[in-house]
Amino acid sequence: MSAGSDDGGDRAPVRRLFLALWPDDALRERIERTILPALPVRAGRAVPGENLHLTLVFLGDVPERQLGCVEDAAAGARAEPFELVLDRLSWWRQSQVLWLGARETPPALAALVGALRERLAACGLALESRPFRAHMTLLRKVRRRPSLPHGEPLHWRPDSHALIESTPVPGGVRYTRRASWPIG
Ligand code: 2AM
Repeated sequence: MSAGSDDGGDRAPVRRLFLALWPDDALRERIERTILPALPVRAGRAVPGENLHLTLVFLGDVPERQLGCVEDAAAGARAEPFELVLDRLSWWRQSQVLWLGARETPPALAALVGALRERLAACGLALESRPFRAHMTLLRKVRRRPSLPHGEPLHWRPDSHALIESTPVPGGVRYTRRASWPIG
């Protein structure tokens, strides 16, 4: 960074991005009505309803000059329609998140993630190598193994995948949908 600069110096401007499935109002309301009240919310920090999502590919900081390539890559990743059965609540010790997810990943969802990864890698982005696990984080900062309730599975047929920008705001993060593309 150059001394005295007020624009961040020589670093290229970046956007913090990820690809995700975004719940429709009906699914979000069901999660808020039937699952969240049964969770040990005091054990962590609840993700606000409007922020609930299922990450497909996390990109992190992307230089603005690559935005066009990212959008073209995401637009060109086609998927067959699929149903996701959200039938599992679990907790990851390392990331300290309590999540809602699917025991089974529909092949069409795995194919969508694979196509996105392949096309995004062609933009020259370094993608995380950890395998895809379909999950929606419900609580963050859950430091100890929580007791988890049992509930009815939720069935979800996502109709689009979206490119999301993450912006820090006081006390949290705001997610903005930059673009979305139909599934099926
Ligand atoms: P998580 O919910 O399991 O934490 C936006 O940050 C989304 O991208 C979150 O859903 C987060 O998953 C996911 N993500 C994956 N890898 C990440 C990373 N290295 N840093 C931050 N978020 C990451």
